[in-house]
Amino acid sequence: MSLIGQDPKDAIIARFARHVSSGKAEFFAQAGIDLVFGRREGVYIWDVEGRQRLIDCHCNGGVFNLGHRHPRIVAALKAALDELDIGNHHFISEHRALLGERLAALSPGDLNRVILGVSGGEAIDMAIKLARAHTRRPGVISARGGYHGHTGLALAAGEPYYREPFGPLAPGFTQVPFGDLEALEAALGEDTAAVLFETVPATLGIAIAPEGYFAGVRALCDRYGAVMIADEVQTGLGRCGAMWGVDTYGVVPDILVAGKGLSGGIYPMTATLYREHLDPFMRANPFIHVSTFGGAEVGCYVALEVLDILAEPGFLDHVQEMAELFRVGLAQLKEEHPALLVEVRQRGLMMGLKMASPACGPLLTLAGLRHGVLTIYANHDQSVSQLLPPLVIQEDEVAQVLEALDAMLAWVEKAAS
Ligand SMILES: Cc1ncc(COP(=O)(O)O)c(C=O)c1O
Repeated sequence: MSLIGQDPKDAIIARFARHVSSGKAEFFAQAGIDLVFGRREGVYIWDVEGRQRLIDCHCNGGVFNLGHRHPRIVAALKAALDELDIGNHHFISEHRALLGERLAALSPGDLNRVILGVSGGEAIDMAIKLARAHTRRPGVISARGGYHGHTGLALAAGEPYYREPFGPLAPGFTQVPFGDLEALEAALGEDTAAVLFETVPATLGIAIAPEGYFAGVRALCDRYGAVMIADEVQTGLGRCGAMWGVDTYGVVPDILVAGKGLSGGIYPMTATLYREHLDPFMRANPFIHVSTFGGAEVGCYVALEVLDILAEPGFLDHVQEMAELFRVGLAQLKEEHPALLVEVRQRGLMMGLKMASPACGPLLTLAGLRHGVLTIYANHDQSVSQLLPPLVIQEDEVAQVLEALDAMLAWVEKAAS
């Protein structure tokens, strides 16, 4: 018997509203969105009733970099379950060691050491903890409108809306405009432990840093003795056409945080990678950070398969080729819809469509549901629609997305007029 669609959609939504989130159920009802995920395979997801099929260009921020239920990832989990379980994080583990070694091999510079976790927020918390412990300073500078998760320190680095109801939070956090080196320098001081940025802030609207920005951030961190943390939860693992987004800028951060895609969409896994000079603190305090399910051994096996796929010759070339098809196609769409589509932002397959007003992002999401593309607007700049297709998307599917986008933009033009 299938696990999907055992009850009518109305009954599923009512049960969700009763026991999981009445607020979400109300929000989606008001927005006119009744999508409930059903079957999912490759680049596609289906509504639970099986009638509507969408190309997933949201990918949950990169969780589905390899598409849905990649056969090699599913097989890896099945194989892992024949012999392994979560393991015991207190002890030495063959599988955590293998994953650590592999991540280090795929990372630039001496980002050789890894703390494994379950969620991106937890991995960011760990990065901030390590920066503070290493520098013995409290200050953390992040970008206004950025996003690092909803756990303690990650939350404190994020937007007021998400953190204010939960105060008092940890002190020492400052936000600066992304892309502005002068503002960063003005905020830096002798009490700054860390500078934390997403390589491409997604929630801010796929903001692309100006030329030289990250090299400048690196230099400022060095000058002030601050730890540079790159949040690569979305931009890492091939999304930008390189293993890590920072690779495309030729910069090595002191700490790099990976999440989402490391799961293969199948088993949660995150990593806080850090450079050798930060190791003395962890070496002296090996039991100071604990995560029972962090680096679960079955998950390590899955993550190793994810990395094997990404590291195969030609994989990143494929991402770049698909990105180029999008670049050409989106430029054409911009010419065809000049009043609506005001800017295309792109780093590999991390793309954002900046439209004329904040009403347009939500409208484009609605249009996508009608035209077979799942795409979601950026929460902190709703004029931008995020476009993150699976990295395994093929040429004909890119053409389908571009064709659908043409119709979607036309729909928004009509709806907004
Ligand atoms: C850039 C970035 N950092 C951190 C996080 C937090 O990850 P998680 O939801 O796994 O805690 C997210 C999640 O969307 C993210 O996009």
